[in-house]
Amino acid sequence: MRKKETITSLQAGKGNRKLVMITAYDALFASLFHESVDMILVGDSLNMSFLGEPDTLSATLDQMIYHTKAVCNGAPKSFVICDMPFGTVGTERDALANAVKVFRQTRADAIKVEGGKERAAIVKHLTQNAIAVMGHVGLMPQSVRSEGGYKIKGRDSKDFEAIMEDALSIEAAGAFAIVIEGVTPELAQAVTEALSIPVIGIGAGQETDGQVLVWSDMLGFFENFKPKFVKRYLQGATLVKEAVGEYAKEVRSGAFPTEEHTY
Ligand code: KIV
Repeated sequence: MRKKETITSLQAGKGNRKLVMITAYDALFASLFHESVDMILVGDSLNMSFLGEPDTLSATLDQMIYHTKAVCNGAPKSFVICDMPFGTVGTERDALANAVKVFRQTRADAIKVEGGKERAAIVKHLTQNAIAVMGHVGLMPQSVRSEGGYKIKGRDSKDFEAIMEDALSIEAAGAFAIVIEGVTPELAQAVTEALSIPVIGIGAGQETDGQVLVWSDMLGFFENFKPKFVKRYLQGATLVKEAVGEYAKEVRSGAFPTEEHTY
């Protein structure tokens, strides 16, 4: 039985073991993942893979709370992080009220907040009020509309310096770890070396302290598009379609149910 991670054990992992994070949105899958991973993120990516929306922006706090409750129920021994959706951490007051709501209504261990140095004061306010915060810098999906798309970061020196400053200011604000997404491996490595907290990469190369992937991408359930950084460990969509096709065929032919499945 896996022992539940804590902020102390996760931070002690830096430089000693690679940290593994995966997303989950429900109790069933969370219960399948928790033995293998260090952290489960209830990502606002659920708005895309669960709800079928084109981006994460319309996810609401109540939806995140509902799914975080489910994940905590399915994986009670996991370190669970609830992603704060777009528009819920815009001011210190709103951010704290919304984070307290997450902590009161779920058993999440931490929240994740997208944003760089412009959000450092808000992250500091949260961490000073007993809210454990994971930062998220680099490519930030909640900025997709303001930035006009998803763009890989750190390719020029201005971008490189800005994201380094973002990461350092979120660490200084008291975050216990950060996600770095969609950046060059050189930038991810430099940030990992500069910070004393764990840096978890997604689309950020090999040199970070750990990795995170969206479960439906890495298990091959999401077929429409495969970003370069995703490795499919299962052909989930193919397996499901084959199995459901087989079930439908057997119902239509009368091969299911048999006596074995009859009271
Ligand atoms: O929402 C999410 O799943 C995320 C991960 C991609 C890090 O933020």
